Amino acid sequence: MHTLPVPVPGASEVLIAVHTAEVGEWDADMRGGWSLSGKKPRFPLVLGGGGSGTVAAVGSRVRRFKIGDLVYSYAWDNPKGGFYAEYVASLAETAAPVPAPLDLAQAGAIPIAALTAIQGIDDALHLKKGERLVILGASGGLGVFAIQFAKLRGARVLAIASGADGAALARKLGADAAIDGRAGDIAGAARAFAPHGVDAILALTGGKALTKCLDTLRRGGRLAYPNGIEPVPKKRRGIRTKPYDGIVGRAQWERLAREITAARLQVPIAAEFALAEAARAHERLAQGHILGKVVLRISQ
Ligand SMILES: NC(=O)c1ccc[n+]([C@@H]2O[C@H](COP(=O)([O-])OP(=O)(O)OC[C@H]3O[C@@H](n4cnc5c(N)ncnc54)[C@H](OP(=O)(O)O)[C@@H]3O)[C@@H](O)[C@H]2O)c1
Repeated sequence: MHTLPVPVPGASEVLIAVHTAEVGEWDADMRGGWSLSGKKPRFPLVLGGGGSGTVAAVGSRVRRFKIGDLVYSYAWDNPKGGFYAEYVASLAETAAPVPAPLDLAQAGAIPIAALTAIQGIDDALHLKKGERLVILGASGGLGVFAIQFAKLRGARVLAIASGADGAALARKLGADAAIDGRAGDIAGAARAFAPHGVDAILALTGGKALTKCLDTLRRGGRLAYPNGIEPVPKKRRGIRTKPYDGIVGRAQWERLAREITAARLQVPIAAEFALAEAARAHERLAQGHILGKVVLRISQ
């Protein structure tokens, strides 16, 4: 643990007293020296691209928030530091009011995962009612939300999850069918689910399981994946492939809030750690088989 000065919000920024920090594998990548810009990390480096908390101060140009508002935020690569901290100062547009029916603990677990999941369903795949979607990695951090947003759009969902417990969680979250992608027969499950081929795949992990999923896609079907999955899928003839990044902005928050409320979003939290246990949280990440999200609880 290190003691740093409380960051000072600029004119267009809010200061958030952090309640919960979202933990994702991208944090572990950054801890290992990776950065999106390719630049060398500068210290002190405070991890954490997302989280929730209470507005503690607002900059002179901020009208949308007042002290005491409950917010969640996606502030990637924030030069003033991330959410593994008691305070975060970031641009007001990176934050949004905590939507009903979530509390601060749930909202803090989801900013990056839920924004990236809904953008995969809507903006990358343009999923329509009645379409048959395969979600690979359905019981992980993004998958648990992608299932719920896809169901909200009226799609039929086959969840390829991790383990029998992952498949059970996926069914509980609304998947029409679910199998353990590590031990189960992906091709057989997909044939039973969509005899004429599936319409779309959201891939939240790569490799052999994704190759099996791609074999089940109908001609002209779509594949979307957030940049970061490994190995990077190779393009295939006859399949529309869309890699994408989660983005933040007011319109993105407004849609997410509507859909969280409409879906009565369930937020599976697999493990929770105190700020001082951040290293243990990363050890848990490294063990894998996380059903839902890992979080740091910064304050009660
Ligand atoms: N570009 C962006 O804006 C952006 C934003 C957010 C996330 N991402 C990327 O999106 C990806 C997903 O993120 P995430 O937080 O959802 O990661 P995650 O929680 O690790 O989810 C991936 C899931 O895939 C599962 N899996 C692996 N092999 C499987 C198989 N054969 N069958 C079924 N499931 C399998 C994993 O289970 P096990 O753990 O048991 O192996 C895990 O549950 C990551 O690569 C991340 O870097 C990108």
